Amino acid sequence: MLDVQQARRDTPGCFERVFLDSAGSSLPPTPVVDTVVAHLRREAEVGGYAAANERLGDLAEVKASLGRLFGVDATSMALSDSASRAWTSFFYAVPLEPGDRILLSQAEYAANAVAALQRGRATGASVEVVPSDDAGRIDVEALRELLDERVKLVSVVHAPTNGGLVNPVREVADAAHAVGALVLLDACQSVGQLPVSVPELDVDALSGTGRKWVRGPRGTGFLYVRPRLILDLEPAMIDLHSATWTSPDTYELAPDASRFEMWETDVAARLGLGAAIDYLLDLGLDAVVEAIGYRAEHTRDGLERIPGVTVHDRGAPLNGIVSFTVDGIEPTAVRDALAAQAITVTVSSRSSTLLDMSQRKLDAVVRASPHYFVSPADVDRFLVAVRSLT
Ligand SMILES: Cc1ncc(COP(=O)(O)O)c(C=O)c1O
Repeated sequence: MLDVQQARRDTPGCFERVFLDSAGSSLPPTPVVDTVVAHLRREAEVGGYAAANERLGDLAEVKASLGRLFGVDATSMALSDSASRAWTSFFYAVPLEPGDRILLSQAEYAANAVAALQRGRATGASVEVVPSDDAGRIDVEALRELLDERVKLVSVVHAPTNGGLVNPVREVADAAHAVGALVLLDACQSVGQLPVSVPELDVDALSGTGRKWVRGPRGTGFLYVRPRLILDLEPAMIDLHSATWTSPDTYELAPDASRFEMWETDVAARLGLGAAIDYLLDLGLDAVVEAIGYRAEHTRDGLERIPGVTVHDRGAPLNGIVSFTVDGIEPTAVRDALAAQAITVTVSSRSSTLLDMSQRKLDAVVRASPHYFVSPADVDRFLVAVRSLT
């Protein structure tokens, strides 16, 4: 059972406002903020290199903590500065040639989609979309019909940016592997709010961010790559950390996932990411998942009871992102009216998930994403505020 009062004490921002934007950029807990600030102060005292050298063990522990979270070895983890950087560093390393096929999910995030289109243009590979079922989830039967040995990669978004959907990742992975395709999981919105076990999901690579449900600092991200793939993949861009310059015209790529990293990094943020993962592991993922699920359900149920409000999340299971619209009021106006009452939500617009939003004829939705530090009273205050708009 999660100690919500302690979690709230560790999150001073949640006393000032009803914070419902962990799908955007969450409120980091005090131990994360303290870790980052302490390291910045230390850099100011002794210089960035000496300060980093003092924390080499802790920096190595960041990957070990991520490995514990995902059930994988630390050497299969690479750190980056965003989820998109992590996603693209794997994606651009997958060899493609004319006639190859890339499959995307209907709820694909714009950053992934534009990268896929760019690579399709550059290599002659085709980019296709796997149809969704009535609830918006990847239709695994339709996927099986699309798959053949020319499909080199299937991208699957675990939880999309614009709502409560959860894609059937393991079924997608099994189907894709049957024809030898790789599976790249965009876990940006699922890590920290849903169970994400690599052995259970059996994906070949996974990307995520620190700043959302993990409650880490901005400018942090991570990539998992299946160990037996690492040696076969050459990142599109490398530096003296990803590879060693071994003779005037040769280099050797790092033997582990660090070949997907570059040398320079925000060390304070990286230590903060480690603190955030450890904070999450200490709370216990099961308790966190349960607490978020309860709050999202409370939020959805309450919204559904307000005349003039439409909740857009369909199917089951659902994740902690609640998406809705209010009749006759633009989503941005809803967001701004709530902000005036110290309630933080965001708007997810069509261009972020163009295919899904177009299919559902939606231009924008309001997104409320309650984390475990949000109290039931906070959710009630939000519901009263939405009702007052209608
Ligand atoms: C589903 C999904 N994938 C990827 C991203 C990109 O993350 P980042 O901004 O860290 O690159 C986001 C960001 O909102 C997202 O919601």
